Amino acid sequence: EASGGPAVRRLADWDADRLRDLAADHGTPLYVTDLDRVAQNCVRLRDAFPDAEIRYAVKAHTGRAVLETVRESGIDAECASAGEVRRALDAGFAGERLHYTAVNPPARDLDLVVEWWTAHPELTITVGARDTLDRLAERGFDGRVCVRVNPGIGAGHHEKVRTGAAAKFGVPYDRAADVVADARDDFEVVGVHAHAGSGIHGEDDLAAHRELVARMGDLAREVGDLEYVDVGGGFGVPYHEDDPPLDLDAVAAATREALGDVDAALAVEPGRYVVADAGVLLTAVNTVKPTPDTTVAGVDAGMTDLLRPAMYDAYHAIRNLDADTDGGRGRGPVTVAGPICETGDTFCDGRELSVPERGDLLAVGNAGAYGYEMASTYNSRPRPAEVTLDGDVLRERETLDGVTRLERGGGSE
Ligand code: LLP
Repeated sequence: EASGGPAVRRLADWDADRLRDLAADHGTPLYVTDLDRVAQNCVRLRDAFPDAEIRYAVKAHTGRAVLETVRESGIDAECASAGEVRRALDAGFAGERLHYTAVNPPARDLDLVVEWWTAHPELTITVGARDTLDRLAERGFDGRVCVRVNPGIGAGHHEKVRTGAAAKFGVPYDRAADVVADARDDFEVVGVHAHAGSGIHGEDDLAAHRELVARMGDLAREVGDLEYVDVGGGFGVPYHEDDPPLDLDAVAAATREALGDVDAALAVEPGRYVVADAGVLLTAVNTVKPTPDTTVAGVDAGMTDLLRPAMYDAYHAIRNLDADTDGGRGRGPVTVAGPICETGDTFCDGRELSVPERGDLLAVGNAGAYGYEMASTYNSRPRPAEVTLDGDVLRERETLDGVTRLERGGGSE
């Protein structure tokens, strides 16, 4: 029987020698993913929510090996686009384990998913607008539908990830029962859904989550005859070194209690929780520049590799793998900055760290969730490589030819 391992895996727990070897073999910047940790995170989720339906939010990390690990752990897949559905199908998720959450779905996505539905009639499409129901009916879809509700309650680590109150997502709570009733004319309505936001960690977030779940319980009792009530994902992970781990059992108990007595299964959709602490980003120090306020350590990874600090001011732990015991370097304020021509391209500003030397290898923690997935080729930077902790290549390093491969026209004779 697989083990859930420790409640949290800190950056300090990674084996420095192993990470240095991987960087030497594969170069930097390099994502390292520990598939065993992915499996452990799945086990802890299963243990905390033994009778719930658990769906992994694929968007957090779409890598094939990660998806296969999740599938083997008995957890289903929640997909945000046709592309993610395609990846989940490729990774072997059967139709009944596939949930496509259609957010303002492009026509091409609906065309594809409805086409795949004919081969996988058990897949479920979650819709957040009456309009989407019409567009599905136009395409001949009459299968399993879940109605996404905007509960008017948001939570999460940053304004930009507080989904639950954003008008963009879900049908307004007051209209949800009507939309469910209408949808029942043409589809098999199997569930209702809401997602408060991402990075639920503190008491306030938990209170918001509880309120959302209670509202969804009320809705489920009102409309009746559902397979499940999906209360979204958002379970947080400790990004700061001294953040306590999320008490998953307490979250599960609070969720159950808030939901109350419903004749439907509970469903949850964690993304970050499954993969965040299973990944680190390795990056080499290329330039060290003392300034009056801080030492700038110029590294070879940037916001194109890991966008979260630039986009959400997200904190990620940073460890110097060549100076774990100081290495005689001394400590001081350090600004770890990438090679992108953007002021926001830093991983930390004036953080108290051991002062790096050129050639040092740094590890950035909790990079497994929304890390590689949000990588871009801005500044014509090839995307990084990704390997498992065992050294198997999961994604090759992109080449400059790869970056320009879609280019057409021009060219001098
Ligand atoms: N379900 C739905 C409908 C969602 O929209 C999301 C995340 C999840 C589940 C999973 O949330 P999680 O458990 O991973 O917090 N790029 C941002 C996060 C955006 C999440 C969007 N939706 C970040 O790096 O923090």
